[in-house]
Amino acid sequence: MGNSSEAIGQTTTPGKRPPSKILVDGGDPQETARIQQLIGFVDGQTTNPSLIAKNPEIMHLVESGHRLTEQEEAAEYRKIVQAISPLVGDAGVSIEVFADLNTTSDEMLNQGREMNSWIPNAYIKYPCTAAGLKAAQHSVAEGIRVNITLCFSQQQAAAVYAATKGSRAPAYVSPFVGRLDDIGQNGVDLVRNIKRMFDQSDHHVLVLGASIRNVQQLLYAFHVHSELVTVPARILEQWAKEGMPLPGDDFAYTPVGAEIPYEELNLEQPWEQFNIEHELTRKGIQKFVSDYKSTLRKAS
Ligand code: E4P
Repeated sequence: MGNSSEAIGQTTTPGKRPPSKILVDGGDPQETARIQQLIGFVDGQTTNPSLIAKNPEIMHLVESGHRLTEQEEAAEYRKIVQAISPLVGDAGVSIEVFADLNTTSDEMLNQGREMNSWIPNAYIKYPCTAAGLKAAQHSVAEGIRVNITLCFSQQQAAAVYAATKGSRAPAYVSPFVGRLDDIGQNGVDLVRNIKRMFDQSDHHVLVLGASIRNVQQLLYAFHVHSELVTVPARILEQWAKEGMPLPGDDFAYTPVGAEIPYEELNLEQPWEQFNIEHELTRKGIQKFVSDYKSTLRKAS
């Protein structure tokens, strides 16, 4: 039963796990441990080049004038995910390849193979581009688990489905809610649409709601039974402060932008047939590259 201080459409049921696995969206093992203590569990973790650049040890090195070589950056990244790995449950730790718009699928795949050897519960994050999907296709054939990131459209999610068909482990697709809000769309609609599309599928792709900016979006992910959701620590802290509410039957989300309409798509097509272009995917890659480079020593 809820209590009278709850917001409309929310209930608090002490001890009840949400319907979505919760991952911490960050790059600091101490933060993950703190959230684990606070909410009692952490199912997994997602990282990306921007979050790794914000890791306290890396920031300290950079602020004290020590820029890293690419090898040092990879060694730091490895150290960070090795510290996080034992703290999380079976949703694993997503590790993102360093890729710019020209990185080839072979280059991504080589990085993915190496990163996959760092920890036993790795998910390799590839961008939702042609090169990223090719790398993912080879990865799943080799038994490497994947998380396709920077997903901004239902067509991209359909391409992830087609490219990872036959995967032994579930593949993740990460629709970015907050960044769609930023361009005037109602980002949570994409999560709803992808879930609906995958209702009639073989369920080898799981939806991982990403770019979550507030508790309402987290509750929306629970409401549509997104299999996973990745959330920054400060939002999980807010959720804990509110008593870890879950959406009630009368849960209502106030749209923040234009509705994203549902598209009827045939999931059985080859992935190359889907339109995987999206401006935000390109911009997202560029931002990851610039944050990654901000930690690196300039080539002489
Ligand atoms: C997680 O996998 C994503 O990289 C992350 O959620 C992006 O969030 P942002 O849009 O707040 O940077």
